[in-house]
Amino acid sequence: MSDRVIIFDTTLRDGEQALPASLTVREKLQIALALERLGVDVMEVGFPVSSPGDFESVQTIARQIKNSRVCALSRALQKDIDAAAEALKVADQFRIHTFLATSTIHVENKLKKSFEDVLEMGVNAVKYARRFTDDVEFSCEDAGRTPIDNLCRMVEAAINAGARTINIPDTVGYTIPTEFSGIIHNLFNRVPNIDKAIISVHCHDDLGLSVANSIGAVQMGARQIECTINGIGERAGNTSLEEVAMILKTRQDLIGVHTNIKHQEIHRTSQLVSQLCNMPVQPNKAIVGANAFSHSSGIHQDGVLKAKNTYEIITPESVGLNQNTLNLTSRSGRHVIKHRLALLGYPEGSYDLDQIYTSFLQLADKKGQVFDYDLEALLFFSQIQEEPEHFKLNYLSVQSGGSVMATASVRMQVGDEEVTEAATGNGPVDAVYQCINRITGYEINISKYDLKSKGIGKDALGQVDIVAEFKGRKFHGMGLATDIVESSAQALVHVINNIYRALQVAEHKERFAQKTVMETL
Ligand code: KIV
Ligand code: ZN
Repeated sequence: MSDRVIIFDTTLRDGEQALPASLTVREKLQIALALERLGVDVMEVGFPVSSPGDFESVQTIARQIKNSRVCALSRALQKDIDAAAEALKVADQFRIHTFLATSTIHVENKLKKSFEDVLEMGVNAVKYARRFTDDVEFSCEDAGRTPIDNLCRMVEAAINAGARTINIPDTVGYTIPTEFSGIIHNLFNRVPNIDKAIISVHCHDDLGLSVANSIGAVQMGARQIECTINGIGERAGNTSLEEVAMILKTRQDLIGVHTNIKHQEIHRTSQLVSQLCNMPVQPNKAIVGANAFSHSSGIHQDGVLKAKNTYEIITPESVGLNQNTLNLTSRSGRHVIKHRLALLGYPEGSYDLDQIYTSFLQLADKKGQVFDYDLEALLFFSQIQEEPEHFKLNYLSVQSGGSVMATASVRMQVGDEEVTEAATGNGPVDAVYQCINRITGYEINISKYDLKSKGIGKDALGQVDIVAEFKGRKFHGMGLATDIVESSAQALVHVINNIYRALQVAEHKERFAQKTVMETL
């Protein structure tokens, strides 16, 4: 048996489906590129039949990714498999993942079928998917609660039908480690053709056991782990990629397997996913939490100063946390910025140095000292602003104070036109938002407003994340500036540009559908 564990990342499918506001195609592509850099073997990037937007993002990612296999999900239905195959066919290497529930609870209550029907459906789905690719994965949804005899029958039949990977999900995070590894052990002992497929596991974290269950399964012979960055996913989330990768690396002495993950990429991939998904990482989270490498107690600090391995089982550098503190100020030159970005893992050519340097100087003038996290934020924002934006904030001014009514005036670029508005509001942010809403004319409802500091001290950057509802859909926007009213305004402008793009896609699809109808008449 191979000693390599395949890392199947499902941040953009299981992770994304649980977000309060869905990601734009551009944001998904940005995450996919980071996952490719991280070295994931397979990335599951969507469920194409579920919406035209999902189809489009799977196709866009499939076109761009070269070093990881791109995968899409489908139920065990021909129309789902057709949509997945159509979206994926532009990829260099792709996988179709089809799934069907096998537990009695799901078969009887959800599917309202007999297990025999399910067996036949699963086999037909795998055979159908094989028409498009050799790389077909079949998942027995709710395998953790499936009677073992039925599970063995389903796995054997799916392998005979042509599935190369069989996934055993603990869909509701119900099993405990001995129980879950027992299931994997049983499959290896009882399914005669088990050696013809890779056994994969996909665990949810409802009882906080997803990582332990996945590692236990690997010890029993599973060779693929399905996981997400920061463990995001349905309800309590999925197995966290960074945790399993670091467990398999740190305890290779005991477990004896390895992955292709480039560990130094872990920290920044985690930050990117957290930022774009608007899902903060808890400070005490293993591997990527802000406190994961900080020692507080005097006894611990004393120990670490004497010998790091007294209290540190992995180094911060091994997951890409760089401890170097170079002072970056407005006197720093381009080559220092280039060097710093290279140390942070951004090679020359992966960004526009002129653009970053100009933004860096503006920030350094305002802040004095610029830190690594500021630089990454600048880079990050320069990337998400790559496409020309329809709405742009040109100027804002606010007057507010204890007893005066807040008044704002805002000037914005709307396509080729410049528009100015003034408004009063219940505080400076509200006044600015009134202006922006008048200018854009979109009726939106802000359901979440979150302000946090990016950095340390009073001159830290203020990051604002908002979730806004527009015509029943949720949109996420972010803004980053030293002035929190400005970052609030930027976050709303970001949302508004996302809405504008979504409306354009919808309009384009409508026109396309009308044209197709006309052509068939
Ligand atoms: O949790 C689950 O069972 C899933 C399947 C679609 C693999 O996400
Ligand atoms: Zn899942």
